[in-house]
Amino acid sequence: MLLRVRDLQVHYGPFQALFGVSLEIDEGEAVCLLGGNGAGKTTTLRALMGALPISGGTVELLGQRVEHRASHELAAMGMIHVPEGRELFPSLTVLENLELGCVTPGTRRRSAETLAVVLDLFPALRGRRRQLAGTLSGGEQQMVAIGRGLMGRPKLLMLDEPSLGLAPVLVDAVFATLERIKAEGTTIVVVEQHIHHALRVCGRGYVLEGGRIAQEGSTADLGRSDRLRAAYLGM
Ligand SMILES: Nc1ncnc2c1ncn2[C@@H]1O[C@H](COP(=O)(O)OP(=O)(O)OP(=O)(O)O)[C@@H](O)[C@H]1O
Ligand SMILES: [Mg+2]
Repeated sequence: MLLRVRDLQVHYGPFQALFGVSLEIDEGEAVCLLGGNGAGKTTTLRALMGALPISGGTVELLGQRVEHRASHELAAMGMIHVPEGRELFPSLTVLENLELGCVTPGTRRRSAETLAVVLDLFPALRGRRRQLAGTLSGGEQQMVAIGRGLMGRPKLLMLDEPSLGLAPVLVDAVFATLERIKAEGTTIVVVEQHIHHALRVCGRGYVLEGGRIAQEGSTADLGRSDRLRAAYLGM
């Protein structure tokens, strides 16, 4: 088991956002977190990444308890988060943003090698290495955000709505890239509103509703779920 989350609880002041979320992710899996606006998807990822204090529950990464570790420690352990809204540094170049993803001395040493892999995955960035990130299109920014995550050589790559705001053709491109990243052995957790894409790339999924896991299962079963179809596919 790569990641085991038990009974995760999160409060924002008096407001409880997560009511005992439990997840299990095996090495090499791609798992999606689905759910409507405000269901707690971002909160779950941020709590797992040490970006939010938790009020209960445990998180084990490869058998080690990590729920009170800081984000940078988790990143150094291979748990890497591509945040919602990308969060690039607009006045740094593409290359500088990518290099910020090298979070350990080991990944810094191998940065040229990893950069070659990232540019191979995102050829559109190759000619834009010196361009300021703030001047990129939305799709290009998303590529940099995912590329920055990959520069840290993740064991577990967690992406929050990588397709947000992208034209359909770019959404396809992002998911094709995730399929390649998965094929190379990286474990993926992805929050996604375009559920048909998430269901294609991911083997399993969890559905959050009101801060609780309402459904879980293989994506084949979730794709057939009347409740999910009604909620997200408008079918
Ligand atoms: N900083 C905050 N302070 C107070 N409440 C918050 C804060 N961040 C999130 N919430 C609340 O927690 C709940 C879960 O929010 P979260 O951002 O995790 O949802 P989400 O599933 O990611 O939704 P979306 O699909 O809109 O991104 C929502 O009701 C939200 O209003
Ligand atoms: Mg969100």
